Amino acid sequence: PQDIVTGVKNRIRVYPDFPKKGILFYDIFPLFQTPSLLNDVVRLFVQRLQPSDTSNEQQAIDVVVGLDSRGFLFGPSLANHLDASFVPIRKKGKLPGEKYSVSYSLEYGVDALEIQADSIKSGQRVVIVDDLMATGGTMSAACKLVQQLGGIIKECQCVIELTGLKGVEKLPDGVPSYSIVQYEF
Ligand code: PRP
Ligand code: MG
Repeated sequence: PQDIVTGVKNRIRVYPDFPKKGILFYDIFPLFQTPSLLNDVVRLFVQRLQPSDTSNEQQAIDVVVGLDSRGFLFGPSLANHLDASFVPIRKKGKLPGEKYSVSYSLEYGVDALEIQADSIKSGQRVVIVDDLMATGGTMSAACKLVQQLGGIIKECQCVIELTGLKGVEKLPDGVPSYSIVQYEF
């Protein structure tokens, strides 16, 4: 696993003052130029969700929720590995039909996230995935949406966590989180 962490870290590019002055931007796209790395990342996510007793079917994940837009790079692969469904949470105005909406403050701006009302059934076991957790605003809004539909969040998973921003403290009580690579800011 340490090899994978190092591999991911070596591939992430850091851009100061993007998209605004004072923001240090972590670009995960170079990771996809090493084809095996996506698979390695997804395997680390999957390992976290594997119950100690693998015969216990109750432990299976039903739904992987990916966050618009960079969470979509990992969500469908993770869902495929877990034999789970994939459900998107999108920025407002992108999803048709009956929806639930939660507004949130972003590292740079304010927005709202939406989920389709029939996409998760009450009691389903859910994992939420995104590329990065900074302030935790995005992930905590996503947690609220999943919980509004009655989903049980087994874990929030990110490739990168900016630990100095203490995003995990924003997550609802009892929701576990996991990140592969950590930076302070
Ligand atoms: C970025 C990143 C996370 C979020 C983290 O997404 O992909 O989703 O910000 O920030 P937070 O923890 O402070 O909420 P962004 O909204 O920039 O859009 P994108 O994924 O569509 O590029
Ligand atoms: Mg995002």
